[in-house]
Amino acid sequence: MSKTVLLEVKNGFGYLTINRPSALNALSSEVLKDLNLALDQIEASEDIRVVIVTGQGEKAFVAGADIKEMDQMSPIQAHEYMTYANDTFTRLSELTQPTISVLNGYALGGGLELALSTDIRIGYDKTMVGFPEVGLGIIPGFAGTQRMSRLIGTSKTKELIFTARMVKGQEAYDLGILNKLVAAEELLPAAEELAGAIMKNAPLAVEKAKHIIQVGSELPLKNAIRLETEAEALLFSTEDKVEGMRAFVEKRKAVFQRK
Ligand code: CAA
Repeated sequence: MSKTVLLEVKNGFGYLTINRPSALNALSSEVLKDLNLALDQIEASEDIRVVIVTGQGEKAFVAGADIKEMDQMSPIQAHEYMTYANDTFTRLSELTQPTISVLNGYALGGGLELALSTDIRIGYDKTMVGFPEVGLGIIPGFAGTQRMSRLIGTSKTKELIFTARMVKGQEAYDLGILNKLVAAEELLPAAEELAGAIMKNAPLAVEKAKHIIQVGSELPLKNAIRLETEAEALLFSTEDKVEGMRAFVEKRKAVFQRK
């Protein structure tokens, strides 16, 4: 039986691939279930330092929620499907490890929402992002209305959702949806280079930074700054902080142990 989500661990990277190319990697219930199983493995892993998410095949990252499956759903079933997907994407967004999406083609609807649940997005000129949902009589249901607004603002998000317009790589970059725009053959290498740069740093510090940025963005500024101060003080209790500062003083490269 073929798995619709693959996880390969190599050199500290966890390669998470949505593997349903015959349907442009559309997020069926089976895919979401397999994604949860992969997240179980990532959460339990001590070897994965950065997660790289991509879609199988040449054409698509993920072309959205599964329209054929949704076509048959009652409102109650749709509620369950959306809730399950949102819980899954929240798990992905809350992984302690940094996550990078490689948008190797269409990232539409639920596919774009999947990418928005990762920390960083890389695309190329043929990357196509968009929210086609209103053309199907629905709205983005895997948190696109919320995560996109928080990323690029409500007005630009409204324009994208109301028009259902597909946006190509350069424009997606200009809008701030993509962090990097690279040549087609550079997609994965660029993600690996970025992951490598992250991995040179103290893991607990990177994890803490991710957590504080995410949690803090939902708090009043004053409370978020307090949280940052507490996290900073906590990092002063780590061996990696001692190593990082000592290495600087001794003019050598730090060796971090996630301790
Ligand atoms: N769900 C189910 N199947 C899908 C799919 C989807 N989202 N997207 C593509 N497929 C299937 C197609 O039905 C087709 O299967 P068959 O060969 O069995 O007919 C196969 O993938 C290849 O797709 P196309 O032949 O359509 O490929 P294309 O190159 O002509 O077009 C495309 C590519 C423009 C991306 C087109 O496939 C498309 O518009 N897909 C749907 C995109 C979409 O509307 N996504 C949003 C879904 S709603 C959503 O995500 C809601 C939410 O937030 C919860």
